[in-house]
Amino acid sequence: MPTALITGASAGLGAEFARQLARRGADLVLVARSTDALEAQAAELRSAHGVAVEVLPADLSVAEEVERVAARLRDASDPVDLLVNNAGFGLPLHFADNDIDDEVRHLRVHVEASMRLMHAALQTMRGRGGRIINVASVAGFISRSTYSACKSWLIGFSRWANAEYSRDGVTVTALCPGFVHTTFHERMGLAQGDEGVPRLLWLQAPDVVRAGLRDAALGRAVSIPSLRYKAVVALAGLLPRSVTAGVARRGRV
Ligand SMILES: NC(=O)c1ccc[n+]([C@@H]2O[C@H](COP(=O)([O-])OP(=O)(O)OC[C@H]3O[C@@H](n4cnc5c(N)ncnc54)[C@H](OP(=O)(O)O)[C@@H]3O)[C@@H](O)[C@H]2O)c1
Repeated sequence: MPTALITGASAGLGAEFARQLARRGADLVLVARSTDALEAQAAELRSAHGVAVEVLPADLSVAEEVERVAARLRDASDPVDLLVNNAGFGLPLHFADNDIDDEVRHLRVHVEASMRLMHAALQTMRGRGGRIINVASVAGFISRSTYSACKSWLIGFSRWANAEYSRDGVTVTALCPGFVHTTFHERMGLAQGDEGVPRLLWLQAPDVVRAGLRDAALGRAVSIPSLRYKAVVALAGLLPRSVTAGVARRGRV
């Protein structure tokens, strides 16, 4: 049975990755800070699907805790076949108004932790094969504060790493959803209506995860779920940066 390690598995897209992978028979390693939520999720998946589920609580903004997860990924005696770098959060204000320590934690979770975990995963995946999915965002194709800069890093790095490591049997896919119904916006203190985003632009987590798993299986470097957002990204590539930055000021994805 393949084994998948998912960060941010206690809620939203990460919890949905866990459900879909368990349904396909994968054993799981679940990572997030909320131990109780992870234990509850693990118990449910073990009993519903008969898979092995390990709970590995960690705050990915803390170096020693990221290292514990990296050590699990380097463990060649119980190798991980799929790494999903999904944990993430948004900051409520604009850059200059956010606490700088919060900005640093944000950068660590989105970029540094993902980079360290990819590096660790490659130590056992190269040669034997494996998949990495980095949950980025359509925000990575536009300019909007540090969130979109972090997501751009994930997209750019995934493109290069997919070309480089597919020769060793490892694919790397940046999954780039638009707005998805999860706890993400609520955790920023925003009701979904607060974003001023039309209902048509909201995606469902199961559809996003299905698209990401399918595109990763096809070895794609970038996965943009839904035709709507494929069109948005194509259009963003054609418009001047000043126009897309103006539009992007409205919402957080
Ligand atoms: N929802 C959207 O509209 C949207 C759109 C595009 C991209 N995304 C991206 O999708 C990914 C998942 O977000 P989501 O929408 O599913 O949000 P969510 O429902 O708020 O879930 C976020 C997950 O990340 C975990 N997490 C947050 N900070 C962490 C930390 N310091 N250490 C470890 N785990 C941490 C949370 O668990 P704990 O609190 O238990 O630690 C939770 O499991 C994020 O990378 C986000 O940027 C979301």
